[in-house]
Amino acid sequence: MPALLDLHGGQTAGMLHFGQRRAIAEMLTDEGHHIRLMVQASSTVASGRGLTALVLPPSVVVRGARARLNDSVAPARRALIRFALAAASELMIDPTLAALCDARELQPLIRHVAEAQLRDERAHAVALAGLLPEICAALSAEHKECFAVGAAHAVADLRAADGKRWAAILAQLELPGGAAQPQLLSLPADATALVDALAATGMGDFASLLESGRAGIADA
Ligand SMILES: [Fe+2]
Repeated sequence: MPALLDLHGGQTAGMLHFGQRRAIAEMLTDEGHHIRLMVQASSTVASGRGLTALVLPPSVVVRGARARLNDSVAPARRALIRFALAAASELMIDPTLAALCDARELQPLIRHVAEAQLRDERAHAVALAGLLPEICAALSAEHKECFAVGAAHAVADLRAADGKRWAAILAQLELPGGAAQPQLLSLPADATALVDALAATGMGDFASLLESGRAGIADA
């Protein structure tokens, strides 16, 4: 949501035109709705299961983003790094949500929330793929590089999210993990949609940047 607020307010790529800002406002509304739905459903399920003090390990994605968004990074670059993480998340979440929709191990309420979110996220992916070329065209060469490296870092973190948080929940429910729950413990992290969307922006060869491993050693 912060990335969408930055975009809407003109901090990422200058002030966008009315139609673009309306599309971003609609995404913001959906994301707020997703948070409310998931918090409410999780609270209901956790209290029903007696999980009153659930302890989760830190998120790989959140920890990585915080490290790259430290106070020494200039505000304009912070907005680009936040947007890169948002774009990667939006364009990579589909297979994860689809797996959650099919996971019979989950409470039906959680599956229904995942189904509702999946419908919205598919619309967001289409909207974002349409917005990305125009947004990227407004960036300087330096800021395009910052965005591309930020997106590559985000993909690396999303791929590294290895299901430890799900494993922690299963352990606290005293349910077996590992082979009994393969779908939950090994969620997919397919970057194809992101690679395709960025290929249409004329930002250079993002696929090669991803595969070069540069995201692990460089900061644009
Ligand atoms: Fe979204």
